[in-house]
Amino acid sequence: MAEVSFSLKDKVAIVTGASRGIGEAIARTFAANGAKVVIASRKQESLDKVAAEIKQAGGVALPVACHTGNLEQINALIEKTASEFGRIDVLVNNAATNPYFGDVLGINESQFEKTFEVNTKGYFFMAQGVAKRMVKQGGGSIINIASIAGLVGPPMQGVYGMTKAAVILMTKAYAKELGPFKVRSNAICPGLTETHFASVLIKTKPIHDMAIAQIPLKRHAQPSELAGIALYLASDAASFTNGAIFVIDGGTTA
Ligand SMILES: NC(=O)c1ccc[n+]([C@@H]2O[C@H](COP(=O)([O-])OP(=O)(O)OC[C@H]3O[C@@H](n4cnc5c(N)ncnc54)[C@H](OP(=O)(O)O)[C@@H]3O)[C@@H](O)[C@H]2O)c1
Repeated sequence: MAEVSFSLKDKVAIVTGASRGIGEAIARTFAANGAKVVIASRKQESLDKVAAEIKQAGGVALPVACHTGNLEQINALIEKTASEFGRIDVLVNNAATNPYFGDVLGINESQFEKTFEVNTKGYFFMAQGVAKRMVKQGGGSIINIASIAGLVGPPMQGVYGMTKAAVILMTKAYAKELGPFKVRSNAICPGLTETHFASVLIKTKPIHDMAIAQIPLKRHAQPSELAGIALYLASDAASFTNGAIFVIDGGTTA
């Protein structure tokens, strides 16, 4: 019987939105398990700091600034990764935005377009560019960070939830079309996690109390609690896992 391995030795992984929060936790976990990680977000300075810490811990990290709503910058990130490391085995689509918190009647066109530009168009074309290389090299793993907001109607985050529902469907489309080329595609739906992104929900006591009341474990998650499932999906241990949607929400949507 073949041994089960969670090692990422010799694998090259791109993690977007890796300068902080869930993306940073995933990048650090990948590096600690042997991957060469290319970490991306808009601000070079924040990336340089994370990369330096990964290197200090004995890992390999390349920090590349990239606005994932911009196709030219997406292509440049993919080119840079391929020229530096020769291959791309794992993509974690994680960088997302939510410029509007409020009801569906109040959102304007530019807030709507910005949310779709980064969270859906960005994810799609990052995956498309990377998958073209994965098909040629004989396989790979695409991991999309969606949200439970894409599964159940989220109050005050309707359009953000729509972008995440699109990511879940996109994950299934890639899984079906690229499975025959050994390119696996899976999604992770986090629940409330303590990051900059969720700071208003965490720091505003009445909102936080309401959120915790919905979580059977009676607390929110830490970013590192999303990293284990990403490590599994990136590794050969997940060789038969394709088109799956993993909900990591402390039981909120159970
Ligand atoms: N926290 C939660 O409760 C929660 C729950 C469900 C799902 N999620 C999902 O988890 C993922 C990570 O969120 P997080 O909570 O870890 O947020 P976070 O701590 O705010 O981190 C977001 C990361 O994305 C980068 N980023 C933002 N816009 C970008 C853009 N246009 N291009 C490139 N990078 C960009 C940020 O860096 P720069 O600002 O330097 O670009 C940062 O590195 C997102 O997909 C989010 O939807 C979070």
